[in-house]
Amino acid sequence: MSKKVKFTDLTLRDGHQSLWATRMKTEDMLPIIGKIDEVGYHSLEVWGGATFDVCMRFLNEDPWERLKLINDYTNETKLQMLLRAQNVVGYKHYPDDVVRAFVAKAVENGVDIFRIFDALNDARNMRVAMEAVQENGAHVQGTLSYTVSPVHTIDHYVDLAVTLKDMGADSICIKDMAGLLKPYVAYDLVKEIKNKIDLPVHLHSHYIGGVAIPTFLKGIEAGADIIDTASASLAFGSSHPPVETMTAVLEDTEYDPGFDLEQLFDIAHYFEQIRKKRGFERGVTKLTDMQTFSHQVPGGMMSNLVSQLKKQDSLDRIQDVLDEIPKVREELGYPPLVTPTSQVVGVQAVFNVLLGERYKVIPDEVKSYIKGYYGRPPAEIDPKIKKLAIGDEEPITQRPADLLDPILDDVREEVKQYVEKEEDYISYALFPQVGLKFLKERKQEKNIFGEGANNKLNPVSEEEEEVDLSNLNEIKELLKILNETDISEVNLEIEGSKVNIKKGGSITADSVDGTAQEKVSPAPASSTVDNEVEVAAETEDSKEAVEVGDDVDTESIEAPMVGTFYRAPSPDSAPFVEVGDVVEEGDTVCIIEAMKLMNEIEVDAKAKIVDILVDDGEPIEYGQPLFLIEEL
Ligand code: CO
Repeated sequence: MSKKVKFTDLTLRDGHQSLWATRMKTEDMLPIIGKIDEVGYHSLEVWGGATFDVCMRFLNEDPWERLKLINDYTNETKLQMLLRAQNVVGYKHYPDDVVRAFVAKAVENGVDIFRIFDALNDARNMRVAMEAVQENGAHVQGTLSYTVSPVHTIDHYVDLAVTLKDMGADSICIKDMAGLLKPYVAYDLVKEIKNKIDLPVHLHSHYIGGVAIPTFLKGIEAGADIIDTASASLAFGSSHPPVETMTAVLEDTEYDPGFDLEQLFDIAHYFEQIRKKRGFERGVTKLTDMQTFSHQVPGGMMSNLVSQLKKQDSLDRIQDVLDEIPKVREELGYPPLVTPTSQVVGVQAVFNVLLGERYKVIPDEVKSYIKGYYGRPPAEIDPKIKKLAIGDEEPITQRPADLLDPILDDVREEVKQYVEKEEDYISYALFPQVGLKFLKERKQEKNIFGEGANNKLNPVSEEEEEVDLSNLNEIKELLKILNETDISEVNLEIEGSKVNIKKGGSITADSVDGTAQEKVSPAPASSTVDNEVEVAAETEDSKEAVEVGDDVDTESIEAPMVGTFYRAPSPDSAPFVEVGDVVEEGDTVCIIEAMKLMNEIEVDAKAKIVDILVDDGEPIEYGQPLFLIEEL
C-alpha cells in the first residue's frame, strides 16, 4: 500500500480567514482555481467557517454562488468545508431543521467533504450535522478539537475518535487550532487512533510558532493519511505550513505526494499578486504568539488580550491575566480555547483580574456555559463557581439544540418576497439581519457595502479567540453605584445608557433607553452587543425605585465598546443609514468591529437620525458619541 501522503489545500478558506480577515473575493479565486485543481490535492477547503458570513456582510457576495462557481471551475478535486456542527457557519446553536437544510443544499452545490467540529468536543452537538451529511451521501469528517489539559489525554481523544466512528465518521481530523500539538504527542495520538480504528486520519495544525511542520512529519510517520497546507503566500503566521515546504520535506521519500514544485510556485505567485493588490499582510509570527508554548494560551487569543488590555489602559496586567486564564479554565472544566469557549474563559479571566476580586462579575456567556447551553464541559465545573454563577439552578442535561424549535417555516413567510432560490431562506435563517439586507439589496440590484473598510480588519476566525471587554468600563461604574445604594431597584441613565439594578444583583443596561433584552438561551451568541451584565453582589431588600434622568429631544448613541465603526445598510432603499433616516426599533444603525466580531448596534425605539458623528472605518473609543437621534 502506498504511503503517499495526501494534501488538502486551505488557501481559499482557512488561509485567507487566518491572514486576510476572510476577505478574498470570488473574483480573485476563479482565475487560479483551475491550476489548483491540477495539483493533485486530495481536497480543497473552500467554504464554511467565517466565509459564509463575510461573503454577505462585507463582500456583497452570495456564498452559495461562490460555492457553485468554484464547483463549476473544478473537475479533479473534491471540495471540502468547515462546519461548526450545530453552529453551522454562525456563532450560536441553530435548530435542527436549519442544520439539515443547510447540509442538503451544501451537498447539492458541490461540497463533498464536511469537517464537523464542536468547541467542547461534545459529540451530541455533532450528531445531527453528521447524520445530515450521511443522508446526503457526502463524506463525514469527525473532528477532535485539540487542546492541552489534564483531562485531554491521548485516551480521551482516542475514545472520542471511536465515538465519532460509531456515529458514522468516514475520517477523523485532529484539529490543532492553536499550534499546540507537539510532534511526539502527535505521533502517539495518531498511532493510538490508527490502532483503534481503521479510518483515515487528517492533520490540521496552525503554524503559529512553527511546530506544525515537525508535528506533521511525526504524525505522518505514525500513519496520518492527509495533511492541511496553504499556498506560501497565505501560509505561516497564524495560518498553516506552506505546501511548498511540506512537499520539499517529503520529496524522495515513501510519503512524497509527487507534486510539481514549479506549479505550486506559479500558484503562490498568483496569490502574492492578489495580496499586494488588496494590501494584505504576509503571515508572520509575533513574539506574543510564540508565548503560546509557555502559557498554552492560543496565539490569536494572546494578541487579542494584549490589544484589548492596551485599550483599557491595563496592559501592565497582562501577566496577571495570563496567570488567571489557566485557573478559570480549570474551574470551568477545561474547555478547549476555541470560539466560543475562548470568549467565556477570556472574559472571565480579565474581569477577575481587573475588577480586583475573582468572580465578582460573571458575564452572561459564562453563566450560559455553566448552565450547559454550549454543551457538556470536558470536566466537572468547580461546584463553588457553579453555585456563585447560577445558584441552585441545575444545568441542562440534554443536547442544547433539543430546546430549539424549528424555524424554517416561519422564515419562509418572513422573506418570501426577496427570495430567488431555496438557499436564500437558509442564508436568512442563519443571519437574519445580514441575510435580509443582502437579499433586499440584491433584489434592488444595489451594491451594499462595496469595497473599502476591508483589509485593515482583524481576522474573523473560529480559531482566533475573542474576549469582549465592552462591558468593563460600564461595570466599574455600576459597581460603584451598587456599593453606594442599599435599595432594591434603581433605574437611571449613565452616559445615555439606561441602567436597571434589581435586588438579587441583576444589572441590565441598554445603550439607548429601551427595554432590557433577555439574552436568548440556549443560543449564546458571542457577537451580541447588548450591554447586559449581571453582577453577583448582594443588595438590600427594599422596594424603593428611583428614576434619574429623562428623555430629551435629542440623544446620542454612544459606542458600547472600543472598535472600528462601520455604517450599516439602511432599512430602506438607500445604501447606508443617512442623516434624516427614520429607523425603527431593532434596526441596525451601525456595525462596530471589535474583538474580531461584527457587532450590530441597534436602536431600541423609533428614531430619526439627526447627525452621524464618525466616519466609516474610523476607530472609536468606548462611550464616544456615534449618532445624534431624535426619538419619535
Ligand atoms: Co484552522
